[in-house]
Amino acid sequence: MEQTAAPLLCGKGLNKTYKSNGRVVRPLQDVDFALYPGEVLGIVGESGSGKSTLFKVVCGMEKPDSGHLYYQGKEYTGDGPEKTGRFLQMIFQDAYGSFDPRMTMERSLREGSDANRDEIVRIIGEVGLDSELLGRRPRNLSGGQCQRMSIARALLSHATVLLCDEITSALDVTTQAQVVRLLNGLREIENVSILFVSHDLALVSMICDRVMVLKGGVVMESGPTDEVIHNPQNDYTRKLLNSVIAVEKM
Ligand SMILES: Nc1ncnc2c1ncn2[C@@H]1O[C@H](COP(=O)(O)OP(=O)(O)OP(=O)(O)O)[C@@H](O)[C@H]1O
Ligand SMILES: [Mg+2]
Repeated sequence: MEQTAAPLLCGKGLNKTYKSNGRVVRPLQDVDFALYPGEVLGIVGESGSGKSTLFKVVCGMEKPDSGHLYYQGKEYTGDGPEKTGRFLQMIFQDAYGSFDPRMTMERSLREGSDANRDEIVRIIGEVGLDSELLGRRPRNLSGGQCQRMSIARALLSHATVLLCDEITSALDVTTQAQVVRLLNGLREIENVSILFVSHDLALVSMICDRVMVLKGGVVMESGPTDEVIHNPQNDYTRKLLNSVIAVEKM
C-alpha cells in the first residue's frame, strides 16, 4: 500500500536509554515510525524489545534522550501526558486497574471528558455495551466489558490516536477477536488511528494495515502486514514467526 497522505503521527530518530544497576539498556535506538490517518500500525517483537517504551515516549510519559515526535506535522515534546492526552489515549492491558474501583462507570467516563449523558450512552452503544452497565463499578463487569469501557473513555476524550498495548492479553480468545473487530470498525465510525502492540500475530494480521518489527530497540523491518507476515525479509522476523507457529502446534 503506497502512502500518499501525510502521517498523522510520526517519530524520527527516537533514542531512549535506561540505566539500572550499572547496566545500560537501550530500548529505543534510532527508531522511526509513521502512523497514517485511519490506519492500524502493529508493533511486534519479543519481550523486552522496546514496544511499551515506544508508547511511553510517544505519549509523553517518558522523555526520549533524542529524536523528534510530530502530530499532524507539528512537533510536540510530550512534556506530560496532559499535553498529549488531547490527541493520544493509551488503552492498557489491565482495564480494571485503569478505572477507580469506587466510581460507577458513568462517573469515570464523565471525568476527563466534557460529554453529557446522551453522548456517553451513544458511545457505550458504539462499543457494543448496554447503557445499564453505566451504573456498575469496574469489579462488576467482565474483562471484555471493562476493556470496552476503556475504549469508550478514550473515544469520549476525542482522541484521534489510540495506543493499544497488549489490550487483549487478559481476555479469552473469543472476546479478544470481538474487541479487535470492534477496534477495526471504530476506526471508520469514529475516525481513529491505532498503534497496536500485541504478541498475538493472528490478531495482528486481523487488524493491522502495516507492521513494524522491533528487536532490542531497533526496527528490523516494517511494511504491509501481509508482506511482513507472509514474506518476511528479515531473519529475525522469520524467527519470530516460526516461534509463534511452533507454540501454536504444541
Ligand atoms: N524504567 C525502566 N528502567 C530500566 N529499564 C527499563 C525501564 N523500563 C523498561 N526498561 C527495560 O527496557 C527494555 C524494553 O522494555 P519494554 O517494556 O519497552 O519491552 P516490551 O517490548 O514492551 O516487552 P513486553 O513484550 O514484555 O511487554 C527492557 O529490557 C526493560 O527491562
Ligand atoms: Mg510491553
